[in-house]
Amino acid sequence: MKEYLTIALTKGRLVKDAMKLFEQCGIRCEEILDKNTRKLVFVNEEQKLKFFLSKAPDVPTYVESGAADIGVTGEDTILEEQRRVYEVLDLGFGKCRMCVCGFPDARAMLDGHARLRVATKYPNIAREYFFNRRNQTVDIIKLNGSVELGPIVDLSDVIVDIVETGSTLKENGLEVLAEICPVSARMIVNQVSMQMETERIRGLIRRLKEAVAT
Ligand code: PRP
Repeated sequence: MKEYLTIALTKGRLVKDAMKLFEQCGIRCEEILDKNTRKLVFVNEEQKLKFFLSKAPDVPTYVESGAADIGVTGEDTILEEQRRVYEVLDLGFGKCRMCVCGFPDARAMLDGHARLRVATKYPNIAREYFFNRRNQTVDIIKLNGSVELGPIVDLSDVIVDIVETGSTLKENGLEVLAEICPVSARMIVNQVSMQMETERIRGLIRRLKEAVAT
């Protein structure tokens, strides 16, 4: 049995809600929310847990490899990365929608099955949606952020991206043209850890599940 279970958390807007949920389960690690610290790993000695923060697409990589036993990241990242991990719990926060967005006049191109240029951080999700679900040939352009720029600077006709409040779209004159799927934060588990640390991991899932339900 390992001394510590290691949990990879996604940097950014999911951290606060994730830690709130852990706190509801009696697991505290305030240091992780301290914006001034450059520390990478945070230890909760009492519960024998180690936390670290990483970029969203890296969380499934850490969990698949076993570098982390558990991960917390968005369903968008899990779908995109397609790693061999167990997805065990919908954590109920980080709710948003994966959408095709663009200027209103791009709707006709989308509906007309034109060969669109699609900018996205999610090439696999975009490919699956356009090629398999819509049977539409498109050109996919991989970006790493601020994807809304795509149509604005005419790099692309539309984007595939997550929409939470919709304010980024609105402030840039863009709108949702089609919804691909809803997204929320998930807990993922390494497949070997699940076998080797069953009791501890199942216990944690049970406590988190109760916290999600309250
Ligand atoms: C995400 C997403 C949108 C925005 C949507 O980007 O890619 O740009 O949030 O949120 P809203 O609907 O509430 O405006 P993020 O802030 O993660 O940064 P990035 O574009 O640099 O990846």
